[in-house]
Amino acid sequence: EKGGYDHFMLKEIYEQPSVIKDTYRGRLHADKGIVQMAGVEDNLEKFTNANRILIIACGTSWHAGLVAEYVIEEFARIPVEVEYASEFRYRNPIIYPDDVVIAVSQSGETADTLAAIKLAKEKGAFVFGVCNVVGSSISRETHAGAYTHAGPEIGVASTKAFTTQITVLTMIALRLAKAKGTMNNSDYQRYLLELELIPEKVEEALQTNEVAKTIAGIYKDAPNCLYLGRGYNFPVALEGALKLKEISYIHAEGYPAAEMKHGPIALIDEHMPIVVIAPKQNHYDKVVSNIQEIKARSGKIIAVVTKGDTQVRALADHVIEIPDTSEALTPLLTTIPLQLLSYHIAVMRECNVDQPRNLAKSVTVE
Ligand code: M6R
Repeated sequence: EKGGYDHFMLKEIYEQPSVIKDTYRGRLHADKGIVQMAGVEDNLEKFTNANRILIIACGTSWHAGLVAEYVIEEFARIPVEVEYASEFRYRNPIIYPDDVVIAVSQSGETADTLAAIKLAKEKGAFVFGVCNVVGSSISRETHAGAYTHAGPEIGVASTKAFTTQITVLTMIALRLAKAKGTMNNSDYQRYLLELELIPEKVEEALQTNEVAKTIAGIYKDAPNCLYLGRGYNFPVALEGALKLKEISYIHAEGYPAAEMKHGPIALIDEHMPIVVIAPKQNHYDKVVSNIQEIKARSGKIIAVVTKGDTQVRALADHVIEIPDTSEALTPLLTTIPLQLLSYHIAVMRECNVDQPRNLAKSVTVE
């Protein structure tokens, strides 16, 4: 059932090229310039008339929501707020009738997300679900939705659910950009084509497995680890840190790279590994100067870079290369080596990768 892999998590990491394709199949037609999902088409006016989109989720799904905040705001120019479902539901939130709420949940059973949906509905919002489990409570409770087609995710650490959630949310952003005329046609076409190429680029990103394993061997005993990223890759830094802490029990924190100066820099010494997500877009020069600041304090840099990069390579202790793509799609690629890195560290520390201590696959109690 693990398909020859040692763990479900590894199998699910390797399934990402095919499940991303399954998720956009029938919905994305780059040759025709079309992105369409029935749930969005049927409610297109609600989306295009929205003054604001609220995304509610927990954990990894909340990280996918954060990526979507950057993508939807950039493409469709609709303000987006991303909320932890647990905070949203207990805050007497302000919800306007023309708000669109998007609830993101792999399992479709997360108690806080479900309660937040009920509250948003009571307050008159239109609620759209992005779920992986067909017929789940959240998929039934929402007004409409679009499924991710990740297939069953067994490993407690979410991997393929995350990248397929980003795929659906990016398609929504593109559809809204087209409907609102907020993106020029050549950028729109380029994004459709690039999204179609993502599965083969994820396949290529999976070839970082060996280098991720080597790096894992060097840092497996580190007590702490920092993850830094900017823009679209700030949420990937959060997700990378969550993956490491939940399966290897190493304390890890994700930060927007520029926030380093506002506190975390005090932690840096020769014992601190710092994973820096530094694709050639995403404020590359700024990230390079963050790397210089870390090196000046003897921190150890593990950098995720675009293939062919030379500038970061000259500074970093280790580099992991991923293929080039359009800026907003980089999270789909930068995530891959971070999943592999946590996986190998957890295996080397003899942790229970698929069922980490204290965690359940879906949190059905608040
Ligand atoms: O099923 P959901 O997407 O609603 O679950 C939300 C979180 O519990 C989940 O993403 C959790 O953070 C993962 N175990 C992280 O890997």
